Amino acid sequence: MKTIFSGIQPTGIITLGNYIGAVRQFTELQHEYDCLFCIVDQHAITVQQDPAELRKAIRSLAAIYIASGIDPEKAVVFIQSEVPAHAQAGWIMQSIAYIGELERMTQFKDKSDGKNAVSAALLTYPPLMAADILLYNTDIVPVGDDQKQHLEITRDLAERFNSRYGEVLTVPEIKVPENGARIKSLQDPLKKMSKSDPNKRGTLSLLDTPKEIEKKIKSAVTDSEGIVRFDTVNKPGVSNLLTIESALSNVSIADLVTKYEGLGYGAFKAGVAEAIINHLSPIQEKYYELLESSVLDDMLDKGAEKANAIASDTLRKMENAMGLGRQR
Ligand code: TYM
Repeated sequence: MKTIFSGIQPTGIITLGNYIGAVRQFTELQHEYDCLFCIVDQHAITVQQDPAELRKAIRSLAAIYIASGIDPEKAVVFIQSEVPAHAQAGWIMQSIAYIGELERMTQFKDKSDGKNAVSAALLTYPPLMAADILLYNTDIVPVGDDQKQHLEITRDLAERFNSRYGEVLTVPEIKVPENGARIKSLQDPLKKMSKSDPNKRGTLSLLDTPKEIEKKIKSAVTDSEGIVRFDTVNKPGVSNLLTIESALSNVSIADLVTKYEGLGYGAFKAGVAEAIINHLSPIQEKYYELLESSVLDDMLDKGAEKANAIASDTLRKMENAMGLGRQR
């Protein structure tokens, strides 16, 4: 079976964008592939985090994975910092990466723009992400559209490693969802929906209450045409809402356009909000049950053990190929 690996940063509660772009793919793919889903806490500390909040966010993300339908019997769910090979292989990948290519990454440029104290780890984020993926001989990485550049550099680093030291690493492929690879902000449909958006009305959190969801969707930016149709260039707001409803209800965009024919944006937005609430309610209910249970710790313990076995084996192969330490 082919191997799938992906990760999400534990920084606050995930957004509907993270859910549609990433988690929803995970729950579908777990039936067909060997899957590993990671809570990438070491990536989270590339910007300063409050220690208590970070711990809370890690547990919360573990609960969201399971509440969303990831089956810990099928997929390995674990915390990055509990598998030491990630940091070790991350260092090796830093030795393969060039400063120039890291400085050209759009995420680095965006996050460092205008700041005078930027952590070195923000620059070396992509080699760690490459290590995450490459340690598990990953064939496919399901992510949203915004991770394309990170996947490209992962492939480049794997190929560079292999050409220098021999064929040790599997070069992975990216997989973005057909529908919802880039969910947009509700307030600025030209920007992606993001946890770090200072305008909270633009972002839906996976744990927003039905009231909050209705309010945010009602105030979502659309246009003055008053006709529900899919046109990402001229109608980015309406198209974003159609994408969200389609992704969550599994009804095609064409069928949704028919459903809203002749209706105004009021009815359209009420329908979108209802689809979101219907989809998220059972997930939220399960989430709050799980937070209190020991299921999470059992899963994370087993996950770390399984991940460790695979990762330390690949790390050993990398070190042997490079001449690090003694032959093992
Ligand atoms: P992160 O934590 O920013 O996002 C997690 C996942 O959510 C997707 N995503 C979106 N998809 C659609 N629409 C959006 N608005 C949206 N916002 C976010 C992201 O594409 C991602 O799939 N660098 C990664 C974490 C990471 C990782 C890895 C991923 C570390 N190591 C190894 C895959 C494999 C990140 O910051 O994702």
